[in-house]
Amino acid sequence: MGEGSAMRGLLIGIILCMLAAMGFSYGPHEGLDCLGCHDPHYAKAQKLFKVNNEVYPNPRTGKTIDGVSALCLGCHNLDKFGGANIRPIFLHMTHPVNIEPNPKIAKVPEKLLRDGKLQCVSCHDPHPSNPFWKYLRVETKKGSQVGKFCAVCHPAKADLKFYGIAGQLDIKVFSSMNEAVGAKAFSLTDPQLTIENPTPNYIKPFGSFKNDLAPAYTFVPFQAWIYSPDPENLPPELRKLIEKPKPKKKKKENVKKKGNTGS
Ligand code: HEC
Ligand code: HEC
Ligand code: HEC
Ligand code: HEC
Repeated sequence: MGEGSAMRGLLIGIILCMLAAMGFSYGPHEGLDCLGCHDPHYAKAQKLFKVNNEVYPNPRTGKTIDGVSALCLGCHNLDKFGGANIRPIFLHMTHPVNIEPNPKIAKVPEKLLRDGKLQCVSCHDPHPSNPFWKYLRVETKKGSQVGKFCAVCHPAKADLKFYGIAGQLDIKVFSSMNEAVGAKAFSLTDPQLTIENPTPNYIKPFGSFKNDLAPAYTFVPFQAWIYSPDPENLPPELRKLIEKPKPKKKKKENVKKKGNTGS
């Protein structure tokens, strides 16, 4: 064993440790550096959102996604469906979102709903300050206790004792939305727990421009983040959507909306 190879081993060890440490301390949204999601000058939707999916229909309602979930799907969908090809989420195979809950199926804490609807942010707080796995609102020990997270809304299904909790209200949920107290996991009964600050709708979008602007600002530390699945590998249902865009299929356009610039 030469001195050189020992040194090289040490160096590789140090680099691996650094990478591991970074892997544990950062989530990929850090790389968006705020401007991936918010644009102080060219925003497309409320809260200065920079991207907004105006294309993808929710298979459960048949309507395009509204509200804050349209931001997430402005990136987390194929570009063909109004996203940016980043870890695409397909709603027809996803846990219900953008719907009003049936109280027998889910007992959703009031604060987690948006105008009565379950949205992406009911389950995720996407801000880089969220230390939890996959930006979930609940600490799941790196995904090894996901049942505890599900129990926030489906407590009757979970063995709460297994997680050392007596009831739904013992589960803490992360929020970054109260600057007065800082980002942390709050008890569901804590009056400081703020999930949403309603603000006037400052942004009056004039219509679409391409989403390409968003990724131009973004990078993700130490990972490739553009994911472009081969269309051949997509489920046939989705492939059909790509091949025949819906609006062009309509024969007669007898309902024309006046003054609608946003399309
Ligand atoms: C992955 C996308 C994403 C990134 C990155 C992001 N935000 Fe946000 N931000 C959101 C969403 C979503 C909301 C609205 C949250 C809600 O309504 O639950 C929001 C809301 C806000 C608000 C409004 C808070 C309020 O009370 O209404 C501020 C301010 C803000 N973000 C600042 C930042 C800053 C500063 C950064 C960078 C450190 C950042 N955001 C990074 C998605 C993002
Ligand atoms: C501007 C683009 C953009 C927007 C908007 C955005 N994300 Fe992301 N998101 C990313 C990128 C980039 C990654 C990293 C992807 C990768 O590593 O392959 C990511 C990764 C994730 C992950 C996986 C995290 C992990 O640790 O593996 C989750 C969960 C997530 N996003 C949720 C959301 C939610 C919820 C919203 C909306 C509130 C949202 N994102 C909005 C760009 C975005
Ligand atoms: C923030 C609240 C919330 C969390 C957390 C949550 N759910 Fe749900 N869940 C709902 C709502 C709301 C519905 C839809 C109820 C309805 O159909 O009206 C639902 C529906 C379901 C359904 C029925 C879907 C269908 O198509 O009929 C299943 C299964 C389910 N959730 C499993 C889970 C699992 C597993 C987890 C954890 C990984 C989880 N949920 C976490 C709120 C939540
Ligand atoms: C009912 C709770 C729930 C809702 C609602 C929800 N998610 Fe998730 N999400 C999860 C859980 C749990 C995981 C981690 C397990 C997994 O990766 O499937 C996850 C993982 C993710 C990931 C990472 C996937 C990966 O490849 O690692 C992304 C991106 C994401 N969610 C985006 C979204 C977006 C966008 C929405 C809204 C359209 C959304 N989520 C709505 C619970 C939810």
